[in-house]
Amino acid sequence: MNEFRAPPGTHDVLPPESARWQWLIGCFAQRASRAGFGLIVSPLFEDLAVFQRVGEETDVVRKEMYDFLDKGGRRLALRPEGTAPVVRAFVQHRPLTPFKAYYYAPSFRYERPQAGRYRQHHQLGVEALGTDDPELDVEVMSLAWETARVDVGLEGVTVLLNSLGDSVCRPAYLETLRAFLEARAGQLCDEHRERIQANPLRVLDCKRPACVAATADAPRLVDHLCPACTSHFAAVKVGLDAVGVHFHLAPRLVRGLDYYTRTTFELQSSSLDAAQNAVGGGGRYDRLAEALGGPPTPGIGFGLGIERLLLAADAEGAFPLPSRTVDVWLVDLTGGRAATILAHELRAEGCSCDRSFDDRSIKAQLKAANRAGARLALIVGEEERASGSVTIRDLDSGEQEEVGRDVVVKRTLDRLDA
Ligand code: HAM
Repeated sequence: MNEFRAPPGTHDVLPPESARWQWLIGCFAQRASRAGFGLIVSPLFEDLAVFQRVGEETDVVRKEMYDFLDKGGRRLALRPEGTAPVVRAFVQHRPLTPFKAYYYAPSFRYERPQAGRYRQHHQLGVEALGTDDPELDVEVMSLAWETARVDVGLEGVTVLLNSLGDSVCRPAYLETLRAFLEARAGQLCDEHRERIQANPLRVLDCKRPACVAATADAPRLVDHLCPACTSHFAAVKVGLDAVGVHFHLAPRLVRGLDYYTRTTFELQSSSLDAAQNAVGGGGRYDRLAEALGGPPTPGIGFGLGIERLLLAADAEGAFPLPSRTVDVWLVDLTGGRAATILAHELRAEGCSCDRSFDDRSIKAQLKAANRAGARLALIVGEEERASGSVTIRDLDSGEQEEVGRDVVVKRTLDRLDA
């Protein structure tokens, strides 16, 4: 047994599996850029207060944060999620609005590790600040949906949609909900009985059977929205229909972070266990910039969990690992220098190629070529060296031709193009 292993709840992603990550991140970057989002890179740690300010009542902040004192005595935390850092950066730099940014970043939560739940996970996300136009909600949600549905190819993904109202309608609703919950306090689980006053919405999110049963007919926020939130929500629903995003209304959806207002959503996969079936989630946070000391600035975004997207893909047989790592394998039976020079020339022309080292047998080198899924092997043996040529072998058909060393690069590129 090795002395060192990755810490519990973390994992290494090695090649070739990492090729799927690369592909997924690339698809997402392209899709987000096409919609006018620019890459944002912000620190992996922030002042602890940034996260405390946005979610003091949430498990993510109360129980799961990786916080620490640095050598200068600053109280910092590894980011448990991606939104607060982006909004902190927005408030600090005040870019022009609408400000549309996307990111790929690890997040850290001290959770009980299990399949699909890790202490370091990775999110693909976007944040857009500066307008509460419901058309932006539609744009952001369709980006999440298309990433999961089109890029990853998940058929079993559903969008759950809710509105959490705003500072006009939510306070009155919370009073109604508190009264409802107080009347049933004896039936709630211990944890949530204590949180009726501080955060009654959380109780609706509890998965324990006692809470689920006691709150089955709890008042629903969607029935208590003010006129402005009602028409915003209606516009979002019509817009989603218009661009073909299939959604289901989920009046109990409250999400695990407290900054949400109005539109909230989750992408669930039917092929994952219920406790970890959210492959993504997001929503509006129209008060968050203010909470972090900025001007009132509405915003909306989402985070998709890479690990969960890939687990769902595995369960559905979607998004397979590419079978080819390079197009060409160089088989050098003359010591290895010929392969070094040929590889250099081919790569300079944009061709993906690899080679064997250590002067292996032709059998071992061809085996490596097959393992890499290469289409062509370029073979340099003693005979080719003597005659100034290279043998090109098609690894699918076995057909081969001998061409002059001076034309082999062009001939290889032509054959790959054909
Ligand atoms: P979240 O729902 O906490 O939202 O996380 C987003 C996604 O990250 C989840 O749907 C899930 O796929 C993945 N995820 C979360 N925790 C874990 C974990 N412990 N292990 C594996 N995957 C996990 C947010 O973080 C918000 N910042 C999303 C957002 C952006 N809202 C507005 N803008």
